[in-house]
Formats: sequence, C-alpha cells, structure tokens
Amino acid sequence: MHVYLNGNYIPREQATLPLDDRGFLFGDGIYEVIRVVNGQPFRMDDHLRRLEYGIAGLGLPVSEEQRRELVPAMNRLLHENNLLQGESTIYLQITRGAAPSRSHSWPHPPVPPTIYITAAPFTPAYELQKTGAHAITLPDQRWARCDLKTVNLLPNTMAAELARQRGAFGVLFIRDGAVIEGFNNNVFFVMDGELRTHPDSPYMLCGITRIVVFEIAEQLGIPLRMAPVQTADIFKASEIIFTGTTTDIMPVIQVDDRPVGGGVPGEVARLLQKAYYRLIGVA
Ligand code: PDD
Repeated sequence: MHVYLNGNYIPREQATLPLDDRGFLFGDGIYEVIRVVNGQPFRMDDHLRRLEYGIAGLGLPVSEEQRRELVPAMNRLLHENNLLQGESTIYLQITRGAAPSRSHSWPHPPVPPTIYITAAPFTPAYELQKTGAHAITLPDQRWARCDLKTVNLLPNTMAAELARQRGAFGVLFIRDGAVIEGFNNNVFFVMDGELRTHPDSPYMLCGITRIVVFEIAEQLGIPLRMAPVQTADIFKASEIIFTGTTTDIMPVIQVDDRPVGGGVPGEVARLLQKAYYRLIGVA
C-alpha cells in the first residue's frame, strides 16, 4: 500500500513524521474522508471546498502548488493501490507542519504543512443499513467550531467508545437541549411529514452527505425543514436517520433503549437509501 506524504509516494511502512509535527503535538490540522466507488471519488468538489474552508479557518500555509497536487495524488493512490474496482475511501490530512520547537503560537515564519493522503478498501455497513442501528444520547462536549473538520476528535472518539461499550452504533450529541449531530455523521428526523435537520451552525459539521440528502429530498418532493429537534421531542419522530461518508444513510431504530417509530427502518430512510446508492454508484 502506497501513501502520499509531502509530495512523495512511498510504501506505508516507510512513511514517517517528525515528532514535532503540530498535528501530533496540538491536533493542529484538518482532514477529509472521501467515498470512492470503482475508482470514482464521490462529490470531490464539495470535499475540496470544505477543505479550503478549513485551510482558511485554521490559516494553514498551503501553497498553490501543494493544492494543485491534491487531486492527482488521490487519483494516483487509487490507481497504485488497485482501488479502481470496488469500494474504498480516501483520507487526506493537512497539519501546520513540524515547527523547530514546541510553542503554542504558530511558527513564524511558517514551516511547510504536512500533507498526508491514503486510499484504502472500505466495507460499508450495508446489512446494518437494512436492519437499522441503535444510538445513545450524550452531552456534546466539543468546542464551538465544529464546522471546521479538524483532527481534534477526542470528544468524538470518547463518544464513539461509549457507544461501542453500550452496543450502539451512533451517538446523538445534545447541546443546549437540542440534537446537534453524531460523532461522525449528521442526523435527520422525520416529523410531521417533514425531514428535519439542525441548521448550519458552528456547532456542527456541514456534511457532504447531508447536502446530497437535501438534493434527494427535493427531487423526491419530501419537505425539508432546517430546525433543531429538542431532546424532549426525539421520540415524536417517526424516523431518525444518520448520514455521512462512511455511514451512508443509516436508519436509527432505537435511542437509549427506546424504539424509534415502529422500531424498524422507515419508508423515508428506504427512499433516501435507494437514491443515494444510485448516486454513489453501488446500485
Ligand atoms: N466524518 N459530522 C461529523 C462530526 C463528522 O465527523 C462527519 C464525517 C459528518 C458527516 O460528513 P460527511 O457527510 O461529509 O462525511 C458529520 C468522517 C467520515 C470521519 O470522521 O471519518
């Protein structure tokens, strides 16, 4: 397996980073995960746009030349790693690079960013997408710039581990009494005949899959409302659905030991799944 690291294509085992890398020391970096089916990256432009938003948000010193290399590098990795058939994901991470000494403030003058890309086979949870998943609610203990896709994922990983320990697939993060999103996905509710999701906010990541769901809903004539759902109203939903690059469209059939709707995946989830699978190219 080859990876891309700062302009070089090298075997994964040979890729090393300086201990001073600010991604390692401070979590000072951003990332993207891109879905690939038969060598075709899904919604690459949207991922690149969000990456640019993150580069600007963190003030990362990425040159035009480094930017121009990203897409060719991703395609080359898909090729070299034999991922032109089947399903895979691309992971891309950019950090503020390795400063000569550990200091919270940024290196001045800037040092070159660390750019790491890998592409690997991916197995989607299609069976669970058919039968439906369990979720738990947890307080959202993340910072106030979750719109930036940073590698600072400690609260997300803690939540994911708690979910795993409780036998759940996902988490509904609760902030100020409202459901925000999951630890690695966004969340939709079917309520009063409408699809509802939290409006864009610095407290959540604006997922690419979420945007795709907006488009599918419009095509299918499903009304969409951008409004938070209060914790007290979770079980008024007839369906709850997670969306994300590695989650796809995942019906949630139980939250904190209580069934959602009929306790089985609902019709809206099924409709969204059908359209989504067709778009990414697996149906
Ligand atoms: N996570 N919200 C959070 C907190 C996320 O980390 C993600 C994606 C999403 C969904 O975004 P998208 O539809 O663009 O994948 C929402 C990636 C997959 C990850 O961390 O692995």
